[in-house]
Amino acid sequence: EIFADADAASRQLAGEIAALIRERAAAGKGVVLGLATGSTPVRLYRELIRMHREEGLSFKNVITFNLDEYYGLTRDHPESYWRFMHEQLFNHIDLPAAQINLPNGTLPRGEVFGSCRAYEDKIAAAGGLDLQVLGIGRTGHIGFNEPGSTRESRTRLVTLDGLTRRDAARDFLGEANVPRHAITMGVGTILDARRIVLLAWGESKAGVLAQAVEAAPVDTLPASFLQGHPNVRFYIDGSAASAL
Ligand code: GLP
Repeated sequence: EIFADADAASRQLAGEIAALIRERAAAGKGVVLGLATGSTPVRLYRELIRMHREEGLSFKNVITFNLDEYYGLTRDHPESYWRFMHEQLFNHIDLPAAQINLPNGTLPRGEVFGSCRAYEDKIAAAGGLDLQVLGIGRTGHIGFNEPGSTRESRTRLVTLDGLTRRDAARDFLGEANVPRHAITMGVGTILDARRIVLLAWGESKAGVLAQAVEAAPVDTLPASFLQGHPNVRFYIDGSAASAL
């Protein structure tokens, strides 16, 4: 679905999320959201904050699971996804802290496998993801599922692609400061969501987006595995659509 601009696409998705939250709340039920980081979803989060402030949208019946976290960064590191999510969304809404979940990037290696299993179990115990929001990296990654990630992959420790680290270099004030590893939900974890919406803006995403949509699903471009999901939409702007 091609929108006039990123704002229009973000408003559309925010409206859909708000409708789902309100509908479930009216029935005394909750919503489980899968959330993403990066610059792409920032407008979506801004619009959700606006709806909370101006329209009384409450997040008390929401549970969130973030896709990924850098491995080796503490929560208070300026580039940790924990901090990003709190600054961009969580600090500004009434989502209870106990209902916020991100992978833990600070555990020693020996404890990572168990904590990834526990993350999967917690998603399942919450009833599974109702809606997963995604961005896309220029390697074709979703979350941090870099090329080589299988369709069946689950939450795990991964090695970041060189291009992903170069793209992050500016935020980290130099490539040498970008972590080499991350913990990410797997492609299989993402595909288990009942609904998926991928957001993408700008020309730098056009090439990878065209491949994700038009090429046969292949593990060299993990976003292409989304083609096999029964309820997935790409909300994009005109520049991101320019190579389709
Ligand atoms: C990071 C995140 C991805 C995100 C991607 C794109 O690698 N782990 O979830 O989709 O960046 O970032 P941006 O939205 O800034 O283009």
